[in-house]
Amino acid sequence: MSAFASLPLDPLRIVLDAGAGTLTPEGPLLTRRMSDMTGAFADTAAWRQAQAAGDPVVYTVASSPVPEENRELPQSITTIYPGDCGGELYMTKGHQHPDAQGEIYLGLSGVGGLLMFDGERSHWIDMAPGVIGYIPPGWAHRSVNVGAEPYRFLAVYPGCAGHDYDWVLRNGMGRRAMRAADGYELVPFGSSS
Ligand SMILES: [Fe+2]
Repeated sequence: MSAFASLPLDPLRIVLDAGAGTLTPEGPLLTRRMSDMTGAFADTAAWRQAQAAGDPVVYTVASSPVPEENRELPQSITTIYPGDCGGELYMTKGHQHPDAQGEIYLGLSGVGGLLMFDGERSHWIDMAPGVIGYIPPGWAHRSVNVGAEPYRFLAVYPGCAGHDYDWVLRNGMGRRAMRAADGYELVPFGSSS
């Protein structure tokens, strides 16, 4: 056991409720409202207007008790609500892993997209229940709700990975997902139409 800076958890049985979006036993619950999304949406006027009009919840992240520590393998369920801000579909802030580690997302309910960007190339994966999106090391990632119901997915990632949100603010995500007549369309990141 001397190889561990802190002792790992004991084996753990965790119950996933896809309908409720919970992991039991439960860990921290993160709630991201519109006011937490500084710099994310292209249309800043619409973003301010949404804050003034009730500051809606854009997404939540419910974690299991497995800690974000080296060698551990934390899990979380993200629920992105349906909606858009100035036509840009509700999404997560997006992040890069400071410690370049892979991650998997498993679609649980609703339909969404997994947008990835490595600084040069962007990649989009259509997500639905049962679909695994694999995020390779070095790719920033953001999830988008492209449907009319909440989009929910399970994430499993190395505890050492970390979350660098500023990377996305500095580098963008390559493309944006905008509401369109037939669902959504992906546009160049610098464009909002
Ligand atoms: Fe991640």
